[in-house]
Order: sequence, then C-alpha cells, then structure tokens
Amino acid sequence: MSVVGVSDFAACQEAADFLSARLVRPPSTALVLGSGLDHLSHLVPDAQTFAYADIPHFPSSTAPGHKGELRVGQMAGVNLVILRGRLHLYEGYSPQEITFPIRVLRCLGVSVLLLTNAAGGLHPAFRVGDIMLIEDHISLPGMAGLNPLRGANADAWGERFPALNQAYSPRLRDLARQQARQHDIPLQQGVYVYVAGPNFETPAEIRMLRLLGADAVGMSTVPEVTVARHAGMEVLALSTITNMCVDDGTSAARPDSAEVLTAAGMAAQAYQTLLPGILAGLHAGPPVAQD
Ligand code: HPA
Repeated sequence: MSVVGVSDFAACQEAADFLSARLVRPPSTALVLGSGLDHLSHLVPDAQTFAYADIPHFPSSTAPGHKGELRVGQMAGVNLVILRGRLHLYEGYSPQEITFPIRVLRCLGVSVLLLTNAAGGLHPAFRVGDIMLIEDHISLPGMAGLNPLRGANADAWGERFPALNQAYSPRLRDLARQQARQHDIPLQQGVYVYVAGPNFETPAEIRMLRLLGADAVGMSTVPEVTVARHAGMEVLALSTITNMCVDDGTSAARPDSAEVLTAAGMAAQAYQTLLPGILAGLHAGPPVAQD
C-alpha cells in the first residue's frame, strides 16, 4: 500500500463496512490514545471492542503500550470510538498505512478527531507532565516526501492540494482552553514538530528544532492530522510533555521509553477531566465544516 489510490479507498470502505455491520452506535467522534494513556479507554464503559487484527486490511500496532484495539461506546453523551494504539513510521509502516485507520473512521462517518501523544519538551518553560495544546505543526518527514497524501489523489476523500492553515480547529482549541480554565488544569500551547524516530534526537538536532520554532517534538500525530484535514474532519491534538529534550552535548541525561510512559501516566488525571469536558462541549454548537 505505498501509493494511495482507488484500491485503498475500496479497502477503507471494506473495513468500514465490516464495522458498520456490527456497530450498535455509529461514532461521530474519535479519540486516539497516545503513549501512556491507554487506561483512559475505560472511560467508555460497556464498549464494543474490535481487535485491529480482526478488521479487514487494518495494520497491527507494535509500539510499547499500544494495544491495537478499537473501543466504541459513549463518553459524555457522545458516540465515540477510541483507538487504543496508533501506528508509527518507525514501526516500518508507510505514511499511508499509518493513516489507514483514520480514513476508515472517515468512511464510518466520524467528523471530529481528538488526538493525544507523548512529546519531548523543547520550550524552556515546559515541565515534565505538562499538557500542550497543539496550535500548529512542522512535518519534517512530510516536507521530505514521507507524506500520506503522496500519490494519486482519491478525490472522494479530498482535494489534491489541501490547505493546512488552522489545521487544529480554533473552535476545539477554544473548547479545550475553556475546560482547562474551568478545572484549573494548566495548559501549555505551541508548535509540535514531527520526526520519524525511533531514536531520540541528538543535542544538535534539539538545538535545530528550537531554531525552527518548535515547542515540542514527537514521532506521531501529524500524518493522522494531515489525512483528517484532507478529508474535512475537525481536529484537536494534545501532547503530554514526557521528557525535557537535552540540548547540551556534554550532559549524561538521556530520555528512554520507560520514562516516557511513566510521565505520560502523570497527566492521566488531567485528561480524565479534560476529555469528557471537551466532548460535552461538542454539543454546545453545530460542528464547523472546515474545508
Ligand atoms: N523526542 C521524540 N519523540 C518523543 C520524545 C522526544 O524527546 N518524547 C516522547 N516522544
């Protein structure tokens, strides 16, 4: 599946048809749980679950802490599908494979996509455990050609040259800020830079990413946002700052994946409040068609 085309659209439709035939409540909204947040899937009680392995054409998840299961139910009165585990370039998947689940969700009728991830902090004021509202992104792999929209455009999904300004919905960002204020949850804001991984960055790379204007760095989310916006979905994304990036070549401090999972768990309490609040707020106004 290296080039998107009509056959990929057919595969997405087949996966969506498999799910539609079994779903009690078709979801309107999707939530992708990033590293360390998997247990939040239990905020949806009495859910229907589908292993990625059982859904036609679905790639399986191999990253630590990524279970590989869809959970479909309700949170705050919203019909929600939770993706327990996402796919990454560093697992060996193509950008098109990484984003296949998002396209299946679109075929299912999902119009709002909420994404969470773990990220390294670049902004000096950030602290481990902070949550950052993503305002914009820099896609280093995407700009270099590893872009899920590369190849024949499937017109049924969206236009050939989609705009990505205001990719992160102003309405949903307002909603997130409002919920954070209401519950006294500190919320950072900034630019997320997407890198391919799987190695953490060198100190020289960290200094370069700061110069580019990035506030946090991570190995996910941007491909999903790209195809979601291409297909006209409304997007909100939140990063948990799981480690502060080391920019000093003489420092012995080094991030590792266990630290990332532990620190992501520190923010779980805040997400347990924020996410249902944001979902409840989706009812407050009509969805904004952003395309
Ligand atoms: N770099 C890239 N990805 C990450 C990091 C990081 O420091 N922390 C969590 N995901």
